Amino acid sequence: MKTTITAVRARQVWDSRGRPTVEAEVALAGGATGRACAPAGASRGAHEAHELRDGGARFGGLGVDRAVAGVNGEIAAALAGADAADQAALDARLEALDGTPNLGRLGGNATVAVSLAALHAAAAAEGLPLWAHLAQGRKVRVPLPEIQIFGGGAHAGRRTDVQDFMVMVPKADSVREALEVTADVFHAAGRLMAETGRLAGAADEGGWWPAFDSNEDALQALTQSIERSGHRPGEDVFISLDIAANELDVGGGRYRLGLETRELSTAEMVEQVADWVRRYPILSIEDPVSQDDLDGFGQATRAYGDRVQLIGDDILVTSAERVRRAAAAGAGNAVLVKVNQAGLVSRAKAALDAARALGWGAIVSARSGETEDVSIAHLATGWDAGQIKVGSFARSERMAKWNELLRIEEAMGADAVFAGPSAFAPSVAAGLA
Ligand code: PGA
Ligand code: ZN
Repeated sequence: MKTTITAVRARQVWDSRGRPTVEAEVALAGGATGRACAPAGASRGAHEAHELRDGGARFGGLGVDRAVAGVNGEIAAALAGADAADQAALDARLEALDGTPNLGRLGGNATVAVSLAALHAAAAAEGLPLWAHLAQGRKVRVPLPEIQIFGGGAHAGRRTDVQDFMVMVPKADSVREALEVTADVFHAAGRLMAETGRLAGAADEGGWWPAFDSNEDALQALTQSIERSGHRPGEDVFISLDIAANELDVGGGRYRLGLETRELSTAEMVEQVADWVRRYPILSIEDPVSQDDLDGFGQATRAYGDRVQLIGDDILVTSAERVRRAAAAGAGNAVLVKVNQAGLVSRAKAALDAARALGWGAIVSARSGETEDVSIAHLATGWDAGQIKVGSFARSERMAKWNELLRIEEAMGADAVFAGPSAFAPSVAAGLA
């Protein structure tokens, strides 16, 4: 069979933070090959697939020799003869070989690279771009981007407590237009920062690394940047925040806003965000509470989940089971899908399908540590996720994904449909009409 795996190999490459990561290659009997890199998070949830690192002194303990050796040894042997076109069976084989629920033995960084490389190889065997291979002839939408303007939290020396200050352009006609509007906002923000002496560099995902006095200060600056760019906040351009509250959790149901030297209870945290939602053109909020606080996530959902997209990242960790549990508790209306959080392509797709079945939004997302790998642009499109989160509008590991989306949209030609408001859960979409 032309999609029979004949070889699997891995090597160490480097990510956008200069840290080692795993790249895998899969070769098929028909001559097709696929390649993929594992990304790496900084604000990781405890329930993610395990990232296997070497420990010790070398590379600050972040070496991936063991993960690479696992691919070249055990994984290569186990996958020889497997069918790359049967992703579910291939991933099940990886799961069984690892033998732990969180892929802790071989490492989710090893399995995700192999799982994705096999997917690329299967697409190549069909002679199709990955997005088209995944779409299988169904009509799919070009995803709506959320794009970081200011980076904070664990990605910028905790210069703001909120991790991502992002924008979305849901009423654009195309990804091309959404990116053009974002470029205006991104540069207006940079000028504003420079003029006011608050520009301190670039954060891990390429956003401006600002020197703000409060989180609110950042919200004001972002709103002002949208205005100055010539676009209308709350009309054309909306704000999206990733609070990444897990990073603010100091235990005992308390959250510490270090920038403002304030400590909040869960209820106060929910109310703080509700207050921002009332006063700023915020359309989407991610992780307003910490990873195990399903009750707090439910409180946030009841407070503003009818108008605002409420995304679970660290709390859902790309797990279908956690998505269903959250929905049963009335918590959240969207899931962040990070393939490496799940560790396998099939597991990530299952989380997306679970969200879709609930009428939730889904956002295929990069990690703060990325490479030139553009797989997520194809997954977000081919899976018809509706939304994509890549980081900011600078640094080539980010721009590579935006540029790939432009190519995909162009390849669709007159058939291309931009997801726009349809990307959100129904009540959120209704608010945009
Ligand atoms: P991470 O951050 O990749 O550092 O986990 C991204 C996010 O929180 O969405
Ligand atoms: Zn997040």
